[in-house]
Amino acid sequence: MSEPRRYTAKIQAIVNALIPWYLKNSRDLPWRREPYFKDPYCVYVSEIMLQQTQVKTVLPFWDRWMRELPTIESVARARSQKIHKLWEGLGYYTRVRNMQKAARLILQKHDGRFPKLFEDILALPGIGRYTAGAISSIAFNQPMPILDGNVMRVVTRIFGISENPREKETNQQLWQIAEDLVVRANESRNSKLACSHLNQSLMELGALVCAPRNPQCGACPARKLCVAFKEDRVAELPNIEKREKATARTFVAFVLERDGQYLVRRRPNGVVNAHMWEFPNVEVPGANGHAPFASAAKELGIEFHNARPICTVKHTITRYRMTLEAFGVQSNGTLRISDGVWFPYAKLDSLPFTSAHRKVLAAARTKIS
Ligand code: ADE
Repeated sequence: MSEPRRYTAKIQAIVNALIPWYLKNSRDLPWRREPYFKDPYCVYVSEIMLQQTQVKTVLPFWDRWMRELPTIESVARARSQKIHKLWEGLGYYTRVRNMQKAARLILQKHDGRFPKLFEDILALPGIGRYTAGAISSIAFNQPMPILDGNVMRVVTRIFGISENPREKETNQQLWQIAEDLVVRANESRNSKLACSHLNQSLMELGALVCAPRNPQCGACPARKLCVAFKEDRVAELPNIEKREKATARTFVAFVLERDGQYLVRRRPNGVVNAHMWEFPNVEVPGANGHAPFASAAKELGIEFHNARPICTVKHTITRYRMTLEAFGVQSNGTLRISDGVWFPYAKLDSLPFTSAHRKVLAAARTKIS
């Protein structure tokens, strides 16, 4: 048998194995239910939320978002604070601002209807090739490929591809395989929604079975077709560099109280967590998890009395392992914090806070009588 014919036969065999497996084993997720999976706006919201975020985290956020902002027009017209508040805790807030930009563009250019043409979807802010492919295939059943970390893992293992999948040529090869799979599914009509089901089967297999560690090869519908399984190379693939170790960073935050009001500030444009609210804080380089409270207060120009520890919040974002030490202080002295706003405690709850400072706020609540 010639190489192309063998390849085509393998592609067909994968499609035949994956679609029935997906129909039987896929998770019942809200955006997969009637009528949402046919509504590109609902699929779009799920895909943006699912970028860098796990399904179980996304579930309550998606429900709330769809309740509060059920249409593209409602997103376009929503206030900045509202969309940030609905996104509070999901992180990567550029995503939500891009969604609003996209919604406004859809109103202007597409009469408020989510575009169906792949190129038009790809042209929306915040939408790359993967997300455009996911929306095209899931909401419109179009034969457009998807390739993210999950799909990369599935494909490199089944085809035994040992080159680095992020290198240009290998990446192109993987996109080509993903395209061949979805095109074949479309032509062979294994189900009425073959493109949608094929692409989601790749996502689902990567999430549930073909996991990075401890893959469940015994439960895999593509086991007999999998080169990595046959050659006992599953643990070696995909061949991606291991992440660098996270760098430790320490911050000191102050819950400043004056006459029943608290000082908070909004993070400026262009920084991590832009537009989100937080308590005044500074980084203390080299503190190694131990926060020098007095020098941090001096740096912010805070004269204080009655200082008391509130909590320590530890969290990791991308490359950083952060420790945030929060202190409650009463301040009636001078302050060098010019960009802060004093609010009564009750008002703070309605502001979109960064995740770490939301925890400080919750801990402070128990200490504020
Ligand atoms: N990850 C990215 N897109 C997804 C989807 N539609 N369902 C489940 N997990 C996903």
